[in-house]
Amino acid sequence: MKAGIHIDRCTCFDRTFADLKHAIGGERVLLEDVTKRFGCGGDCGLCRPYLERMLETGETVFHQVLLARPPKSRE
Ligand code: FES
Repeated sequence: MKAGIHIDRCTCFDRTFADLKHAIGGERVLLEDVTKRFGCGGDCGLCRPYLERMLETGETVFHQVLLARPPKSRE
């Protein structure tokens, strides 16, 4: 196994991103929906950028640190 960063889950709720992606199926959902349904993203919040990326691209394993994005402005 290659050493390095391997981020594949919400540790607070012990759910892998792959498991969440499977549970969501083909639905188009927002991060807030994932948090409501599974709790993930609603505790420490460190998984939120990874969940957002998963919802955008379908990736479920990450090898780099992703930082939270600033909230979208309402302009
Ligand atoms: S790692 Fe997902 S809420 Fe803490």
